[in-house]
Amino acid sequence: MRKNMVAGNWKMNTTLPEAQALISEIVHMVQDETTGSEVEVVVCPPFPFLLPVGKLLPEGGAFHLGAQNCHQKASGAFTGEVSAAMLQSVGCEYVILGHSERRQYFREDDELLSQKLKAALAAGLKPIFCVGETLETREQGDTFKHLEKQLQDGLFHLSNEEFDKVTVAYEPIWAIGTGKTATSEQAQEVHAFIREQLARAYDAKAAMATSILYGGSCNAQNARELFSQPDVDGGLIGGAALKSRDFTDIIKSF
Ligand code: G3P
Repeated sequence: MRKNMVAGNWKMNTTLPEAQALISEIVHMVQDETTGSEVEVVVCPPFPFLLPVGKLLPEGGAFHLGAQNCHQKASGAFTGEVSAAMLQSVGCEYVILGHSERRQYFREDDELLSQKLKAALAAGLKPIFCVGETLETREQGDTFKHLEKQLQDGLFHLSNEEFDKVTVAYEPIWAIGTGKTATSEQAQEVHAFIREQLARAYDAKAAMATSILYGGSCNAQNARELFSQPDVDGGLIGGAALKSRDFTDIIKSF
């Protein structure tokens, strides 16, 4: 179901007291603003803080808990790993999959990600599936070809019913953590392309019902213009998610 959404990817940041203070500030600053509002706010802290942060989210409101990754198997001898069912059992509704940092540093390819998507869906989680290109790919004019392959190999194996649970995030790698945000025209062009691909793989109704988030140096200053684009349904936020004022300003940018 398409909705305006702001997801905060905290990455490998905060300690328990810092995480509890951050989410308490964010909830306090926006709770009255989001009550009854259309914006879905997803908070994705590191694994150890899912339960304590989740406990500080207002019941039944705009706030939802998410994780930053999950293993592709349901359970077993995978030391150090976390399953989708574990995430669901501590209150997660969402899970980020295919983030460029997972692809780059942990060699996650689209085949593995397609298995992770299935595992997340089987556990009742809603995946936020990330795609995006490097600066080199963009400069070579291969952005659309690259994104089409990531979607085809990673995402387009789901049933229509499964796909209905998926949110897509476009994160140009050259904009992540760099301060070099995509222009709203660049974001709209790629989001429209992604929506076209979704329509071809599934159908027009499914494509129009899918939220497509932008990520990559989205902040309190540029969020409103980015979110005003017809095919930009919100943001997947990194650095600005760790600053309560910035994150709440982004939430109010629709
Ligand atoms: O997943 C969101 C993240 O990759 C974006 O990071 O710091 O550029 O907002 P940042």
